[in-house]
Amino acid sequence: MDPYRLPRTVVPNRYDLRLEPDLTTLTFRGVETIAVSIAEPVSEIVFNAVELAVDEAVVTDGRGREQRATVTLDEAAERCRLALAQPLATGEGTLRLVFRGTLNDKLRGFYRSVYKDPSGVSRTMAATQFEATDARRAFPCWDEPAFKAVFSVTLVIDAALTAVSNTRILETKPDGARKILRFADSIKMSTYLVALVVGELEATDAVGVGPTPVKIWCVPGKRRLAAFGQEIAVDSLRFFEEYYGVPYPGDKLDLLAIPDFAAGAMENLGAITFRETALLVDETAASHAELQRVADVVAHENAHMWFGDLVTMSWWNGIWLNEAFATFMEMLAVDAWKPEWQRWTAFGVSRAAAMSVDGLHSTRPIEFPVRAPREADAMFDVLTYEKGASVLRMLEQFLGPTVFRQGVRDYLNAHRFDNADTGDLWAALGRASNQPIPAVMDGWIFAPGYPLVSASVEGAELVLRQQRFNYLPQPLPWYGAAPAAATPAPARWQVPVQLRVSAGGRDTVERVLLTDAEARRPLPASADSVVVNEGGHGFYRVRYDDTLRAKLLARLGSLGAIERFNLVNDAWAVTVAGLMSLPDYLELTARFRDERDKNVWAVLIGSFSTLNRLITPADRPGLEALVRDRATPALAALGWTPRHGEDELARQLRGDLVRALGTLGNDRDVQARAAELYAAHTRGAAVDPNVLPALIAVLAHAGDAGRYDAFLDRFRKAATPQEEQRYLYALTAFPQPPLVEQTLGRTVNGEIRTQDAPFVARTMLMQVHAREIAWAFVKKQWDTMDRLYPKHGLRRMAEGVIGLATPELEADVHRFFQERKIELGGKTLEQYLEQLRVAVALRQREGAALSRALARA
Ligand code: BES
Ligand code: ZN
Repeated sequence: MDPYRLPRTVVPNRYDLRLEPDLTTLTFRGVETIAVSIAEPVSEIVFNAVELAVDEAVVTDGRGREQRATVTLDEAAERCRLALAQPLATGEGTLRLVFRGTLNDKLRGFYRSVYKDPSGVSRTMAATQFEATDARRAFPCWDEPAFKAVFSVTLVIDAALTAVSNTRILETKPDGARKILRFADSIKMSTYLVALVVGELEATDAVGVGPTPVKIWCVPGKRRLAAFGQEIAVDSLRFFEEYYGVPYPGDKLDLLAIPDFAAGAMENLGAITFRETALLVDETAASHAELQRVADVVAHENAHMWFGDLVTMSWWNGIWLNEAFATFMEMLAVDAWKPEWQRWTAFGVSRAAAMSVDGLHSTRPIEFPVRAPREADAMFDVLTYEKGASVLRMLEQFLGPTVFRQGVRDYLNAHRFDNADTGDLWAALGRASNQPIPAVMDGWIFAPGYPLVSASVEGAELVLRQQRFNYLPQPLPWYGAAPAAATPAPARWQVPVQLRVSAGGRDTVERVLLTDAEARRPLPASADSVVVNEGGHGFYRVRYDDTLRAKLLARLGSLGAIERFNLVNDAWAVTVAGLMSLPDYLELTARFRDERDKNVWAVLIGSFSTLNRLITPADRPGLEALVRDRATPALAALGWTPRHGEDELARQLRGDLVRALGTLGNDRDVQARAAELYAAHTRGAAVDPNVLPALIAVLAHAGDAGRYDAFLDRFRKAATPQEEQRYLYALTAFPQPPLVEQTLGRTVNGEIRTQDAPFVARTMLMQVHAREIAWAFVKKQWDTMDRLYPKHGLRRMAEGVIGLATPELEADVHRFFQERKIELGGKTLEQYLEQLRVAVALRQREGAALSRALARA
């Protein structure tokens, strides 16, 4: 028997759950009656509970006989065992449990969140976060996604407070100084989707989408920041009802901003919870990136109401069915809402992030066997989300959007209120498309890695060859507790390749399913250029031979933004992997001085930042000059202030160029101009919201102690969550060691919320000026951080070690993790160490050539 899976001898159908949280004593009491089906005459019932005291347990069996049970709690196994004197008669029975717990400060289970009210007084609220396996911290339950049941919740709260759960309130009864709220029955759903929020909450008016009222909730004083989130909530809900062809499965939809929140947001059915930055925003003062973040997260969680909540993966190995789909649907919905944002082009950045990790030997397949809940936690990564969404997009484009949508509708209808596996999705898509879906898809989902497609001209033919892409020739030796054995990668994939050949002013698009190691196509002698991965939806890299690459670079204007993005991104990856020289790559970047797409610039700037982390200090002035050489013409052409009638994308790019020039480029003129504009802003002058965050970053980079104190004050008094974040991250950019120390100190002394502190520490590990001090600090404070931070915190923070890209620091990183026997879940640590090796290997291989190239720049 699998020690991580509950027996199915007794299974729950319905929970009548009554909880009474006390925000003063930070405790809660609970009583629940669980209606169960008893399949075998057992004398033991096993379910989940952890950090709860169970004071009483009474069981009624299939013949209505009542018995008191003996309760044992196994904290390590997170289980509760009821022992019965008499075996239970099979049939329908009940379980009545009385229990107690604490409102913890670890942002999981039933926890407390603390914030300041508008008059500066500290307040407490209570909220829940259950995914993946923390419902068991709030009430005893069968805490696995396949045990779906109906939840009927009653909350007993202070009469002055408000509460929200998954469904509408049926009844409110006063009870002395308290009141009793009875909520409607939920649909049959998994435990990890139950939500309870209690506090002094404010809501917007409801907007109706058909029968569904949609509201935004927040702590008092922030309702003015709710309009934008509500707009995308309403629009995406409509979009999904239409796309899925299935009505929204809840009876109302509340979206709640919680001041302390570990993840970005959580798709509790009908009561979606968010961190404040992901829901509340002042549309007139936010940058494009900040607005897009809110739109993305809201659309993503709404998409889950069907994918995840109505139909749920049977076990955590299938989490990609939830997260990849929600990520894919998020793009569709946001793209439909604001086509001018060109959301699918920006998705290139996410796809690229997934390809970086999936190019490692220590990558993993999107879906693979998961046993322990701890392993489930490590599944929430860029492979599940971004590779998963990329692969779905590739499939959607391959089958055609209408056929794909038909398959999705079929899948949802077939499995609603139930659970499903990847095979069920393949079956539905197969019915809709008449294509052999498993043959095409299994390599992308169940195998690690992806192909590098090489394109070359041989005689009158275009030759395409595929092989697995890897940054390093060999895996790193591994010293930790052996991670799950690497699944052998297939030598090939079924690659849906889309080609565009331009010849004599005419474009022809051709689709090829590359299934063998090699494919040949006749190529007209008159061909001016060939684009492989036309449209940019494929999850593979392209390496052009010199002639094909030169032809493309000569006709950059004929490429779409995503195609230019892929051209640079693939060239950079191939360079890092040692298949193209670094000087050649730097030459290539010189062709992009006229580039106007912010995503293409994001790859260019990203590659320069990587170089900045691995060069020797003597080369830094050369790199700064190179950055100025590439980016100055673009900023000069755009100007510092938005022009009348300029397009959306120009507005988005300006801030990124200012930031790159003022920090990486160390451009004195840009720094001076930024200081002037910022000073004008503090005097009340209007500054474009896309430029202001860049000014703050540049000023911090070139700042001193006086400015640090001013920014710290702005962080503390910020008027919006976005403003708070800008100033918080600005604190990481001041170069003076005492200021670096100050910011680090704030990651463990309570001044920075534990939801943010790991990310602040990660940022400091990634920055040249701060990384050595930050690494010493992190090593010393590791145990403290482990105690303070929420569950995923250390894993997120430790990603910063990728920035420690000198041979000495790399060796020290290995020493630390080896001596301390630290595990970060799944293959996380292995992946970080391999990424670090990739960077240091690049330095060792190309350092000398780089110095020469930069000296010439
Ligand atoms: N289901 C997740 C939240 C979650 C993540 C719970 C990890 C437990 C562990 C939610 O739908 C989600 O994916 N949130 C993202 C934001 C999203 C827009 C990518 C997050 O929290 O980062
Ligand atoms: Zn999600």
